[in-house]
Amino acid sequence: MDRKALYAGSFDPLTNGHLNIIERASSLFDSLTIAVVVNPNKKSLFSVEERVEIAKEATSHLKNVRIDQFSGLLADYVNDEGFNAVVRGLRVTNDFDNELQMAQMNALLFKNGAETVLLMTDPKYSFISSSLIKEVATLGGDISGLVPECVLRRIENKLQEESK
Ligand code: COA
Repeated sequence: MDRKALYAGSFDPLTNGHLNIIERASSLFDSLTIAVVVNPNKKSLFSVEERVEIAKEATSHLKNVRIDQFSGLLADYVNDEGFNAVVRGLRVTNDFDNELQMAQMNALLFKNGAETVLLMTDPKYSFISSSLIKEVATLGGDISGLVPECVLRRIENKLQEESK
């Protein structure tokens, strides 16, 4: 039986912390879907289409990874697509409370017994969030080493466009 996992998030933008979770999860499951969550109420730096393109570029070396997007309830998407597991990254102990709450709510909503699987983030990336990356980059700080090359390039281009 194929074990299909989902890793969902805003990914605005995808960071090396996310990529680390993706690489490890892709080796644990037969296939891994990265899904960009469409949330029209959340102001984002990158459009959903750009975030999907970034995810494709950053994971092109991983043959069992595909990229998708969805809106609405994560559990509906999981039930429709038949995922066996939802992967989440744990960075700091604070993350645990939210993850436990979401995992327990989702367990009620999953119809096929899908499990939430928590992977501990590599300590190299435990302090990163997408918002922090955007804040530091916008204020001229160096974010190289914290995001994939394609993200670095696209953030630089966006900031140049904005400064014109
Ligand atoms: N490395 C680096 N950064 C990480 C990370 C890692 N391993 N793991 C998480 N982060 C960052 C994210 O970039 C994000 O940063 P931001 O808040 O600055 O954008 C932050 O930590 C929180 O991450 P996460 O909890 O994954 O939030 P998210 O918005 O990316 O994804 C959803 C959360 C979309 C999966 C969740 O809200 C959801 O399921 N939404 C659908 C609606 C739904 O079903 N709701 C009911 C849930 S029970």
